[in-house]
Amino acid sequence: MQEPTGELLRLLSSDPPTVVLTGAGVSAESGLATFRGPGGHWEGRDPMSLATPEAFDAEPMTVWRFYDWRRTQAASAKPNPAHTAIVDLEKKLSNLTVVTQNVDGLHERAGTAEIIRLHGSLWTLRCTVCGAEREDLRPALHPLPPGCGCGGMLRPGVVWFGEQLPRESMGKAQNAVRNCRLMLVVGTSSLVYPAAAMPQAARAAGAFVVEVNPERTPLTPMVDEHYDGPAGEILPGFVSSMA
Ligand code: OAD
Repeated sequence: MQEPTGELLRLLSSDPPTVVLTGAGVSAESGLATFRGPGGHWEGRDPMSLATPEAFDAEPMTVWRFYDWRRTQAASAKPNPAHTAIVDLEKKLSNLTVVTQNVDGLHERAGTAEIIRLHGSLWTLRCTVCGAEREDLRPALHPLPPGCGCGGMLRPGVVWFGEQLPRESMGKAQNAVRNCRLMLVVGTSSLVYPAAAMPQAARAAGAFVVEVNPERTPLTPMVDEHYDGPAGEILPGFVSSMA
């Protein structure tokens, strides 16, 4: 565990409006692959052939097999100390908003009550014909591709490259970002927009921005503090220092 610096500790003690922005690194210690870097989903795979509407139109089974495999992985993963520490922070701070790019559902399973999902959910299916959405928690779907009652094909309820983010989630996230005094950016490479722009927007609006990541990212030079280590070790340190 790493203790927060005096400045961060003072800020945490003042109960600031806080945003925690997370990416795939927050689930790494649950055994789920991140996207970039060694062993990541995009190593040896072209995201354009798996995570775009064009790829789904051309090869729905290829895309579905990828997402169904990710559902299976996520279903057998358990929330890790980073997810739990975020729940603990939520209890200690009166105004904390979790904004995630993750689709795995681990924040929710850890107990985060309210979450803004920027990239949708692996557990939501949406009809490509009638647009109906439904939750489906089965780890693997049979048959693939799954069908809707209307006869249309269902697609994963995630946001693909080239698609708009859900308007309501974006609006809520931007509002929280504008109004926060502290932002914790955890486990994201800060390469994918619009999420990658949020820490800079928060900082421009006067927030103290902290990055938790064992690697440096394009955001690192712009943050107030960078904690160099796994989220499952750093975040519990923040919580215990507030006790
Ligand atoms: P990335 O795979 O791009 O980045 C994961 C980040 O987590 C990296 O910066 C790692 O250094 C960091 N990391 C790894 N282990 C960690 C740990 N234990 N604790 C803290 N950090 C750790 O994942 P995202 O930034 O989430 O979109 O990627 C953003 C979007 O790009 C995803 O939502 C996905 C992807 O393509 C779509 O599929 C549309």
